Formats: sequence, C-alpha cells, structure tokens
Amino acid sequence: MLNGKVIVLGVTGGIAAYKAAALCSKLTQKGADVHVIMTASAKQFITELTLQSLTKNPVYSDTFDEREPSVVSHIHLADMADLVLVAPATANIIAKMAHGLADDMLTTTLLATTAPVMISPAMNVHMYTHPAVVTNMETLVSRGVGMIEPGEGLLACGYVGKGRMEEPETIIEVVERFFQQQEAERALDMEAAPVGPLAGKKVVVTAGGTIERIDPVRYITNDSSGKMGFAIAKAAKEMGADVHLIAAHTDMAPPEGIRTEKVESAQDMHDAVMRVFDDSDIVVKAAAVADYRPVKAAASKLKKLGETMTLELVKTTDILETLGKRKTSQFLIGFAAETDQVEAYATDKLRRKNCDLIVANDVTKAGAGFGTDTNTVQIFDAGGLVLELPLMTKEDVARRLLTLAAERMPKEGI
Ligand code: CTP
Repeated sequence: MLNGKVIVLGVTGGIAAYKAAALCSKLTQKGADVHVIMTASAKQFITELTLQSLTKNPVYSDTFDEREPSVVSHIHLADMADLVLVAPATANIIAKMAHGLADDMLTTTLLATTAPVMISPAMNVHMYTHPAVVTNMETLVSRGVGMIEPGEGLLACGYVGKGRMEEPETIIEVVERFFQQQEAERALDMEAAPVGPLAGKKVVVTAGGTIERIDPVRYITNDSSGKMGFAIAKAAKEMGADVHLIAAHTDMAPPEGIRTEKVESAQDMHDAVMRVFDDSDIVVKAAAVADYRPVKAAASKLKKLGETMTLELVKTTDILETLGKRKTSQFLIGFAAETDQVEAYATDKLRRKNCDLIVANDVTKAGAGFGTDTNTVQIFDAGGLVLELPLMTKEDVARRLLTLAAERMPKEGI
C-alpha cells in the first residue's frame, strides 16, 4: 500500500520526537519515500542524522537552506507529497497550522501543499484538553486534516492521561488505511467516468415539434414525435457524452439520466439552445421547429365570429441558421424532412445554415419520418452524400450518425 508513496514527515519538538525514528524506519521498510522536515525544537530531541540515515533522504529544517538550485525546497516537498504527516504534533504546531502561520520550513510546506495532511498530537494531558488547543484541533478537522488521536497512559511529564503520541505501528496502520481508501475511491471514479467515442463531449440535442400558441387553448404544431431526437440523446449518452436534451412537444417521457429541458415555442427553443451553445461540442437539431407563428398569441380564448377567420403569421427565428453563423468549433448537425428533390434541398439547407452534416429523409417513404420507430436517411456534408442508410431503427440511425460525427469532430490539440 505504501510502496512509492511520498510521505513528508513533519517532526516537531516534543519528547515523542524520538518515536519519529521508528516511524521513519517502518515507513521506509514498507516502501514509502519519506522526506523529513524538523522544526528547530525537534532537533533538541533527535538528530537530523538519525532521520536522514533511516530515510536515506536529506532532512530539512531551515527554509532558506536551498540545496538544489533548480527548485524551491518547501514548494517542491509540498508538491511531491502524497501525504504530509506531522508526528509528533505539538500544541504549538497545531496552533500555527490553525492560524496559517508560516515561519519555518514545516509551516511553509504545510501551507503550500495540496496533499492530504494528518497529525498525530503529543502533549501533556492538560495542554491537550485546553480550550485553545481543542478549538485549534477542531479548526483543523473542519478543514479536512486527519487526526490520529493520542493514546492514554503514562506521559513523559509524569501525568497519566490522554496526550501520548500514538505508537508508530498504529500510525502506519492509519496511513495504510488512508491510502487503501483513496485507491478504492479512485477506482470508483474511474468506473463512473464516461468512456466511449464521445467521452468528455457536450452534446446538445433538440427534439419534438414546437408549439406556437394562437390563444390559451389552441396552437399550431406538427407531427413530430420526438423519437429521432430522443434516440440521438440516448445514443450520445451511451457513447460517453454529457447530454443536454431540449424537448418541444412529444408524448415521450424524458429519457433516464439525461438532463431534459422542456420548451414550447420556437422562441423558447431558440433561447434554450443559445444558453448552452457556446459551451457545447456537438449540436443536433432534430426538432421540427415551426417556420411561422401567429403574430400575436391572444391572451384569452378567441370567440367564434364570422364565417372565415384569418390568422396572420410571422416567421420564427431560424435557430440552426443562427447557430451556423455563431459557431466556432461546434459540430453542427441539421435535419431536413423532404418530400421531393431530397439531395438538392438538403445540401442547399446545409450550405445556407452552415452545418457540418445534414440528415435528410424522404418522409413520403414507408417507415421513414414522423411518428415511426424506423427511419431511412441520407447524410450529406458540403461535398455531397456521405452515408446512405437503409431502413433501420431510429436508435441505429442515431448511433451511425454520432459515430460519423465523432470521427469528423476537430481533434483536441489540432
Ligand atoms: N430549423 C431551425 N429553426 C427553424 C426552422 C428549422 O433550427 N425556425 C432547423 C430544423 O431543426 C432542422 C433544419 O432547420 O434541423 C431544417 O428544417 P426545415 O424546416 O426542413 O428547414 P427550412 O429551412 O425551414 O426549410 P423549408 O423551406 O424546407 O421549410
């Protein structure tokens, strides 16, 4: 467990400093790379030479004793530590740590490190229970410093009670348990980390048909079921992406584990997409967005009046076109539902809206288009046809489309 672990051991000036020798010896035997920092008072109890001989590493005590010109020692030690252990930790070092003092090599290192810190207090029982010491220890614990509680027994000062530094064997057990747990947590993180061709990518998918209100109970919409967009969102997640689904009208339940934002109108969808666009890697516009909306949605239900009624419509903002103008590195995928001249219309849309790919389907074909579970699509880029897929489930279309996108996305660092 300790093999190769860099442990910076802070030794402070208490009678228990002699136990640092056993600690260094046992840690080193277990494979740890131990670097000792002593305070000036620790040197009254044990020599640098002892600890240097046991660890086979130079012992530091003076902040300004810079032996290696290429590094600043206290920063170097702070950076390379897997763990900083202070044993014994006197009331004085505990107070300095709690208040952020940095007046020697050990305290500067303790402030500079981002490694976990543990302390093993050792002092007289009355010092240990003094409110100042108790408060300082509570401060350290609240900051995440690990406390190796002192044992009870006959203290060097003659008192019997709590304050005796824990035995080196016990300290080592605590340290080993700590690294074991750290390892287990890392393994869990690795398991949870997404894998797949879209790992680490942010994918925004729009789906469903927008609703354009005429009045509170009537609206204009279209036949889009949202199935294609939902299949894309799920496939993107399976491929490791961080997915944000923006869904207009659909009867489908939000897919599990995918952040789904419900919207109603083309304008709502526009606003939702714009909020996340700059930070996204791939945007798939599978939604059927209304091209026109009523000039004004009536606030109350419209009453039946004459024999005819005229509804005045106004163009909605073309979301895809707006994204095409705004895009920097985002990979943009549009959809084109056509009934004739599929290639001509689709490639014209791709160019007009500055997409990287456009997925075209002839909605007059059996098994393709709105509401079905299957689709038959052709995928174009600016150069023409890239992929023609036979009739297949929308899930399979989604996977093929995203695989193509993953292959064509700008690679990091290029
Ligand atoms: N689209 C959009 N915003 C709109 C209209 C369409 O983002 N207001 C997107 C759709 O989500 C789709 C693509 O543009 O990805 C093509 O949609 P379509 O309605 O077929 O395109 P139009 O440019 O409206 O073409 P048409 O003249 O054929 O209606």
